[in-house]
Parts: sequence; C-alpha cells; structure tokens
Amino acid sequence: MQFFDSHAHYNDEKFSEDREEILKSIYDSGVTKLICAGYDIASSKEAINIANLHEYIYATAGISPNDIPGKNFNEVLSKELNEIKELAKNKKVVGIGEIGLDYYWNKENKWEQKHAFKKQIELANELNLPIIIHTREAVYDTLDILKNEITPIKKGVFHCSPLNLDLIREGLKLGFYISFAGPITFKNSKNADEAIKAVPLDRILIETDSPYLAPEPHRGTRNDSRNVKYMAEKIAKVKEMPLAEIAKITYENALKLFVN
Ligand code: NI
Repeated sequence: MQFFDSHAHYNDEKFSEDREEILKSIYDSGVTKLICAGYDIASSKEAINIANLHEYIYATAGISPNDIPGKNFNEVLSKELNEIKELAKNKKVVGIGEIGLDYYWNKENKWEQKHAFKKQIELANELNLPIIIHTREAVYDTLDILKNEITPIKKGVFHCSPLNLDLIREGLKLGFYISFAGPITFKNSKNADEAIKAVPLDRILIETDSPYLAPEPHRGTRNDSRNVKYMAEKIAKVKEMPLAEIAKITYENALKLFVN
C-alpha cells in the first residue's frame, strides 16, 4: 500500500535534528509521495531545498496569513510576492500556499490578510498553479473572496479542512479538494463523520500537517507522515471501504491536483 501525504512541514525546526533519518523512514514505510508546504519566504526556500534533495517530495511556496508583513505592509508584501514568484518557477513547486485567512491567531489585520490572500491567488493564476488554503475561524470571509472576488483558475485544496459543513459544501461547489488531517481522528471532534460523508471520493485528500496535529493514537507527540494512514483508516471506516482503496484514491487525487 502506498500513501500520499498532501501537506507536511519538514522545513519546521522540529525536524532539524533528524530530518534525513525521518524522511528515509517515511519513504520506507510506504509514504512514497509528500508535499512540504512553505508558509513564508524562508520556509518556502527550505521546502524547495528539501524537495530538490528527495525525488519523492514536492514543495509549495507562499505566505501564510500568520506570516504576512506588519510594518510597511504594502512595500514588504510586494517584495515578498516577487520572491515567491521566483521561487515558484522551480520545477518541484506544485502550488501556491499555504495562503488564506486566520482570525484565530490574528484578528487585528483582517484587511491585510485578505489583501495578501487575493494577491497570492492572482499570482497562482499567473503561474497556472493550484492554491493551498489555510482557513481558521474565517470560513465565511474565505468563501466570500473565492466566490465574489477572485476565481482561482487551477482551483486547489482546503488543507487541514475545518469540519464545517458549509465550508465543505461550498468549497466542493467551487471545485476544490478537501484535505483531512488529524482532527478527524480526535475522539472529541463532533462533525468528523458528517464531514467525511459530505466529500465525494474524487475530491478527498489526506495529510498530516506534520509536525503538528498528530492523529489518534499519537495525539500530542511530534507528528510525521508515517501517521497519514490513520486519516485513511478513519475515512475507510466512515465510507465503509477497504483501506487500500482509500489509500489509492487519495494518492491519485493528489497526483491529479498537484503533479499531473
Ligand atoms: Ni500547514
């Protein structure tokens, strides 16, 4: 069985001690494709370095809503957008992200978050790349931008999708994929089964978002891509399908969105 972890951060400092060792164990465990996601300039560069060193790894480049500039916002942002544009020319870069809105960590700069999000969708359109959306406590503003302000031409994915049925239904209508992470395995997550049922098989992706959000039964530890099977197991259970089928379907979906 092979798995595709559609979102992880081996560019995070939590992997700086043992990155190469972990990346080898991951591949050997059957996770034969993964995407290392950037969230600012430095982490996007590092994601590309890692992807360049490992054939099975792809990268994304982008500025997350929690990493947008504070001082001299417009000036710094336009400089950073140019850098992302240059970085995204690398062949291993398969998307612009993670980008989006996060009102959980930052409520004070909503205008700036929206502006940076829209600018990066424009950039993705220019480069003909899909986008990787991070949205937290900002579901309706995120949908409003996608529905009424700018259409992402190559679509993309709601990464670590909130288990919010409005978001999932509207996201699907907009042509997006839905990527499930650790929260679908948490014992206290309320909507997990309904959320999984709401996503048709041809739009489901799985991810770990490592090093964060380790799934049950490893909740609270440093996450890595070997745990992506727990997301597939949960989906297999809810959809009443064999695990191998879910592994194959999610693998092919990720290839279709990002690689082909
Ligand atoms: Ni992430």
